[in-house]
Amino acid sequence: MGDSGYISDHEKERLSKFYNSMDEELITSESDFTFDMWSLILGLLNENGKEGKRRLIDVGGGTGRLSRAAFRYGFEVYLTDILPELLNIATAKYSEFEGRTYLLDIFDPKSVDDFIDAHGYFDVVLCLGFVINHTDSLERTETAFFNLVKLMNDKAVLVLDALIRELYMGYPLVIWDRLTNTLIPISTMLKYFKKYGLILKHLHSLEYSYSKPNYHYMDRGIRFFLVKAW
Ligand SMILES: C[S@@+](CC[C@H](N)C(=O)[O-])C[C@H]1O[C@@H](n2cnc3c(N)ncnc32)[C@H](O)[C@@H]1O
Repeated sequence: MGDSGYISDHEKERLSKFYNSMDEELITSESDFTFDMWSLILGLLNENGKEGKRRLIDVGGGTGRLSRAAFRYGFEVYLTDILPELLNIATAKYSEFEGRTYLLDIFDPKSVDDFIDAHGYFDVVLCLGFVINHTDSLERTETAFFNLVKLMNDKAVLVLDALIRELYMGYPLVIWDRLTNTLIPISTMLKYFKKYGLILKHLHSLEYSYSKPNYHYMDRGIRFFLVKAW
């Protein structure tokens, strides 16, 4: 990787290989979801007095399996990812995403600034499925976090999934195939919230199980619901 703070072509290739070999039907959530993400988001937006058409961005949204539901709640949806092939699958599978997919590298400040110049700020920023951990250094997780905050307008809700170090005691790194994921200590996460002016409104645990022909692994993380402090 170069030292420009974002992802190299070589890493993009590895990501692409990994996600293209994954059968989404085989990803299962082990969490007992007594928490409905959409009702929590709508509740927070209402608390903030956010009315009218609401703009939602899904960062690292892949094939759109989670943000697809947002259309039902009347959001104007922007599905973004670093891999164009996943966005193409999204539009092929779900016609709602036609004309609503964009390339965006959340670790690259310029990519995010250009995106904001072209499309503005958002009322809901989703970054689900541990995208923020998809890097090899803690500094870059902070860059990604700050970039997510930049995408938020001042009454926005950020929903962020993260692999938290304390949930992997004894394992300093999480590696899927040959993709390294940086685990974020909970104290670091709390520092990000404070430094970038966010208030934690809800959280719940997440457990995902991935099956591939030759192996099987589990992810353990936390889903955070955040709003701006001002
Ligand atoms: C575990 S998948 C999650 C997909 C989706 N959000 C979900 O939860 O089903 C992680 C996604 O992050 C994307 N990704 C990895 N690095 C990224 C980056 N630098 N910027 C944006 N997306 C990235 C991958 O291409 C992949 O679609």
